[in-house]
Formats: sequence, C-alpha cells, structure tokens
Amino acid sequence: SIITRSYHAKVIDHYANPRNVGSLNKNDINVGTGLVGAPACGDVMKLQIKVNEKTGIIEDVKFKTFGCGSAIASSSYVTEMVRGKKLEDIGNIKNTDIAKELSLPPIKLHCSMLAEDAIKAAIKDYKSKRQQATQLK
Ligand code: FES
Ligand code: FES
Repeated sequence: SIITRSYHAKVIDHYANPRNVGSLNKNDINVGTGLVGAPACGDVMKLQIKVNEKTGIIEDVKFKTFGCGSAIASSSYVTEMVRGKKLEDIGNIKNTDIAKELSLPPIKLHCSMLAEDAIKAAIKDYKSKRQQATQLK
C-alpha cells in the first residue's frame, strides 16, 4: 500500500500500537513533565517520567502526542528507550538515534526532535522540582 511504501514498518508498529500512552500525576514530586510543541506544524507532545528517588531508575513513563504518525512513533519509541534506565544515563538521547531506529525520512526529522525535546524537558522539570524540594527542607 501507499502507507507501507512511505513509512517504515517500525513507525507503523509504534503508531498502531503505541507503548506507554497516558499521564502521570504531574504534582508527584518524583514525576517530571515535558510539554513541547513543534513550531513547524503545531504538533504537541507531553512526556512524563517517574523516577525512583532511591535508585534513580525511571520506573514509569507515559506520553500523549497530538500529532503526526512519526511524532507518535517517536514518543512511543523514546518511552521504551528510557524505561528501566537510570536518570543520569538518559540525558544524551539524540533525535538522530530515534530517526535512525524508525527510518524516518528527512522531512520527518523534526518529529523525532519533538521526542528529544520532550524527554529533555521532562528531565529538567524533574530536577528543578527535586531542587526546590531540597531548598524547602
Ligand atoms: Fe500534521 Fe504533524 S504536520 S500532524
Ligand atoms: Fe510535525 Fe510530525 S509533522 S511532528
């Protein structure tokens, strides 16, 4: 079909069966929320991580993406990448790794950029929440 010719099978799989769709409680001190938009097309992605404060391991991760198939696939793939990893080990996720795994064409690179931005924003939010909490102690 036209769809399978223009989209790689991995994109279709993550688009048709997205992993980890949903929301975490953004007021939870152990949850970091990243909410980003793509100026180019107006798509929006929310990605949340829940960090185990003792081990530093990402014990839960959820996303909601209002956007194209490549953006949904990129966010789904990123949630699989980070689950079970340590916070300190997920800061260097590159959109090019996502794009390569999903075989995104150049015109869809900004969709994977959205996923990189979202995970980075979630990490930043988590860290600033933890920092504020320690300052209040
Ligand atoms: Fe239409 Fe992204 S440009 S959904
Ligand atoms: Fe804009 Fe995919 S077309 S995020």
